Amino acid sequence: MAKRNYEKLKCVTLLMMLVYCSSAGTNCENECPKFCHCSGLCNSRRVDCSGKNLTAIPDGIPDDVVNLDLSMNNMTSIPDNAFLKFRKLEELRLAGNKLTDIPPKAFQDLYFLKVINLQHNSFRKVPADTFQNLSYLRELDLDANYIEDVPDEAFKRCRSLQLLQLDANQLTKVPTKALQYLKSLHALDLSVNKLTNIPDYAFRNLTNLIELILHENKIEEISDHAFEGLTSLSRLELPMNNLRKIPVAFISLKDLEKLSLEDNRIDFIPDNSFAGNKKLEILKLRRNPIRSFGTKAFKELPNLKEL
Ligand SMILES: *[C@@H]1O[C@H](CO)[C@@H](O)[C@H](O)[C@H]1NC(C)=O
Ligand SMILES: *[C@@H]1O[C@H](CO)[C@@H](O)[C@H](O)[C@H]1NC(C)=O
Ligand SMILES: *[C@@H]1O[C@H](CO)[C@@H](O)[C@H](O)[C@H]1NC(C)=O
Ligand SMILES: *[C@@H]1O[C@H](CO)[C@@H](O)[C@H](O)[C@H]1NC(C)=O
Repeated sequence: MAKRNYEKLKCVTLLMMLVYCSSAGTNCENECPKFCHCSGLCNSRRVDCSGKNLTAIPDGIPDDVVNLDLSMNNMTSIPDNAFLKFRKLEELRLAGNKLTDIPPKAFQDLYFLKVINLQHNSFRKVPADTFQNLSYLRELDLDANYIEDVPDEAFKRCRSLQLLQLDANQLTKVPTKALQYLKSLHALDLSVNKLTNIPDYAFRNLTNLIELILHENKIEEISDHAFEGLTSLSRLELPMNNLRKIPVAFISLKDLEKLSLEDNRIDFIPDNSFAGNKKLEILKLRRNPIRSFGTKAFKELPNLKEL
């Protein structure tokens, strides 16, 4: 019995080696574009064309590229079918170019694409269709652009997206309708924008969100039901805003462990301010003009380690 299993195992191992060898051999391309650096075997092929002042995607990128870096170049647009033959693409870096848009079907059928990096470009708007159907995408970086507008259906089928970076843009409102589809989102960065208020139910469907980063906005007002639905939120960052009081909205954040409120204008901490946040471990209140606090302001916070 044991011997038969051993034979079976030997056979399977041999088969796996065969598959590996054939994929590492003949099916593998060896070309590399002139200005780029290529490395890795077939199933981990990396092509690095960063920092070469390229105005267009170079010819000769092997079709089996898995990780493609075109960042820090001088590209202003992407042709419609630029990436379609890169069927194994998992990570695409286009940061530090001058892109204002990406064609709607640029990433169609790229089922392995997990990371798209577009920070430091010239987007004023999130493209309405381009990301919509990328149901396998895990990370989308759109920080350090000039984005004012996120179309309602821009992320409609992005059900695997875990990290969305929209920081350092020009947003004046939380893009609530666009965010509602992001059921898997773990981290959302909206810092360094121009938000002035967080309305009721702004993040209502983000039940898996763990980190919400909102520092360096101009937030004055957080409505009482603003954070409802954020049932997994563990870290909330609100430093460098214009808050004058502790928002009632914190009450719904039952999983909150870290809360940062530094550099606001809070002058009073009333009783039971954090009554809903029994798991709170770190509460940062530095650089607020606090004049007084209620005797029960920090009561019943058994896990608090740092204040
Ligand atoms: C980039 O390329 C353009 C021409 O395509 C040239 O005029 C420019 O000087 C180059 N810049 C650098 C930093 O090499
Ligand atoms: C980008 O390309 C344009 C047009 O070819 C050129 O004028 C400019 O100098 C390039 N920018 C940089 C930073 O090299
Ligand atoms: C996304 O999928 C929808 C529904 O299948 C389809 O109507 C739409 O054309 C697709 N969009 C793109 C940009 O491929
Ligand atoms: C978001 O939540 C609301 C209220 O629970 C619900 O009506 C809506 O259908 C949800 N949206 C999505 C895309 O699931």
